[in-house]
Amino acid sequence: MLKLLKNPEQIITVNTNGKNFKFGKLQNQIGLLSEHSIIIENNLIADIIPNASIKNESTFQIIDFTKKIILPGLVESHTHTVFAGSRSIEFMKKLKGVTYDEIAKSGGGINTTVTAVREKSFEELVNLTIPKIKNFISQGVTTLEIKSGYGLNFENEIKMLNVINHLNKIFPIEIVSTFLGAHTFPNDLKNKREVYLDEIILKMLPFISENKLAEFCDGFCETSAFTPEEIEKVFIRAKSLGLKLKLHSEQFNNIGGLEKALEHNAISIDHLEVLKENQIEKLKNSDTVSVLLPGVSYFLNYDYAPARKLIDNDCTVALATDYNPGSSNINSLSLIFSLAAIKLKMTPEEIISAYTINAAKSLDRNLQVGSIELGKKADFSIFDTLDYSELIYNVNSNLNIMTIKNGEIIYHNKERE
Ligand code: NIG
Ligand code: FE
Repeated sequence: MLKLLKNPEQIITVNTNGKNFKFGKLQNQIGLLSEHSIIIENNLIADIIPNASIKNESTFQIIDFTKKIILPGLVESHTHTVFAGSRSIEFMKKLKGVTYDEIAKSGGGINTTVTAVREKSFEELVNLTIPKIKNFISQGVTTLEIKSGYGLNFENEIKMLNVINHLNKIFPIEIVSTFLGAHTFPNDLKNKREVYLDEIILKMLPFISENKLAEFCDGFCETSAFTPEEIEKVFIRAKSLGLKLKLHSEQFNNIGGLEKALEHNAISIDHLEVLKENQIEKLKNSDTVSVLLPGVSYFLNYDYAPARKLIDNDCTVALATDYNPGSSNINSLSLIFSLAAIKLKMTPEEIISAYTINAAKSLDRNLQVGSIELGKKADFSIFDTLDYSELIYNVNSNLNIMTIKNGEIIYHNKERE
């Protein structure tokens, strides 16, 4: 039976006229419709019609969205949601002035979480992660990326990827799997970098590719992690095995990561807090999405990425939480919306494009999801409000009342009704 999502106050279509991403001034256009309804057929968006032209209502299963607004399902495109343990003690040190980099260089940071993850079984990690994913779904997320990167040896990186793939099977949303073996060097191989690199290149990547455990290969290019040359070795191998590329770069230092990622046509470069003026030109002339993570700047209390300059120079900007226990223990999309508005000076419209179509592009899903256009998947987040400005205005508040994936209601907060 056809479904009719009837009479919402607003539909934010994020219409791209078939282009499937938004850059520069276009990022500010969100295709706002009122007095329209959406028809779903076979889990896809079949039509968007004026309310006045609705006929034969009895042929539809009708869901009434009076006084609600409909957005494309939100795309959370950069997370480390599978983890164990807490880094609160290190956080206390950071509050006293010790830097993220100093903690990393002394053997803590990512390696603290590695120790905790190695101690957990597959089942324990699955059980730890289930509520975290439910939390994202309750906020309107219909596509969620999760990285490995807290195993840092063959056994534990594969365990993490198996957890991510299992979660993708048991949840109705799409969970995109990213291999982040090149997150940092495990403490026991800090002085044997070649040994760990070989483990990634000769053991992990071929196994991951053969067993289709990850779609993307990510890395962390930083003075406390991988050099551009090391990242390049990982990238060349990953690409030859059919994985698509992403990179954490320009987070604290500019050591050549961005340039390497662009050289290898990475689908996204994430962070960019310390991006330099002359690097904006390089991004502009590429197809690579800039994924900005203002939760990190807030949590670590340092520079925010130059979002305005990126958008004003026609780059394609996405936003994400970077939910992880070390640099952004933040899983609230609403908080990211307000940080993007207040600190990154993005407009509400740019923020919506960043969390929908551009985030979808950063996951190579922009032909299927990220906007309400005919033929795309019927993925929606429904908000209990009359105007989309409320999404930015209500700081750290979850106004999502319903999440729809492939035309099915997968979350409904009846208490708000
Ligand atoms: O995106 N930059 C490196 N990786 C993560 C942090 C991971 C961690 O500290 O556990 C990030 O910020
Ligand atoms: Fe990250």
